[in-house]
Amino acid sequence: MKVLFIGDIVGKAGAEYLKANMKKLSSLYPADIVVANGENINQKNGITQSEAEALHFAGIDVITLGNHAFRQQSVYGFLDDCPYIVRPANYPAASPGKGVAEVKTPKGPVAVAALAGQIDLDPTDNAFYAADKIIKDYPDSFIIIDFHAEATSEKNALGCYLDGRVGCVFGTHTHVQTADERFLPGGTAYITDVGMTGSSDSVLGAKKNQAVARFLTRAFVPLEQEDKDPVINAVYTDTEKKQIIRIKL
Ligand SMILES: [Fe+2]
Repeated sequence: MKVLFIGDIVGKAGAEYLKANMKKLSSLYPADIVVANGENINQKNGITQSEAEALHFAGIDVITLGNHAFRQQSVYGFLDDCPYIVRPANYPAASPGKGVAEVKTPKGPVAVAALAGQIDLDPTDNAFYAADKIIKDYPDSFIIIDFHAEATSEKNALGCYLDGRVGCVFGTHTHVQTADERFLPGGTAYITDVGMTGSSDSVLGAKKNQAVARFLTRAFVPLEQEDKDPVINAVYTDTEKKQIIRIKL
């Protein structure tokens, strides 16, 4: 299976830069399935229906979401109905949307799931047991997990727990790409964090002066998205060739 996974798209800058470079990215890294985390694409975080549709039109097969999944209330009905967008599977069953999207590819069915971490994020069910259920529910699919979590330890541990039982465990949420891409001993493709698709001259996609002011004053300083010097952070894997590449474009 060839998988291209694009790290958290932040704002208009990230979305426009990604769309402008999708052709180049796809020719450099031809994939059976393209996944992107889109939970920060809206100016106020979250995602709207039109933003999701534009991403899908640009070539993203499945959009994953995390802790900002429900920031845009207008998207709730779309999350319920749309087959290609997922919020964390370990959110309450009554939450809008679903946690797994199954996609047919030339190499067979692929189940893409989002899971949210339990450390320094909103309280939710345990991601490890939720992953067990996904494996049970999709026995014939190649499974890709977007583990949207803050703590590197929690991500690393989930990778080890699922090693050999799913195709990929790719971390998102911190917006900082880690240099630990590898195949785990059981054959699962893993990276702690794919990184961010947005402004490289920012603090996690936000304007530097505003982010710094928060730390200097402890006051509530609104954060606006930066649009300077966008970059695509992604990871590409060809599981048959045992190849995994960290991408910065
Ligand atoms: Fe997040």
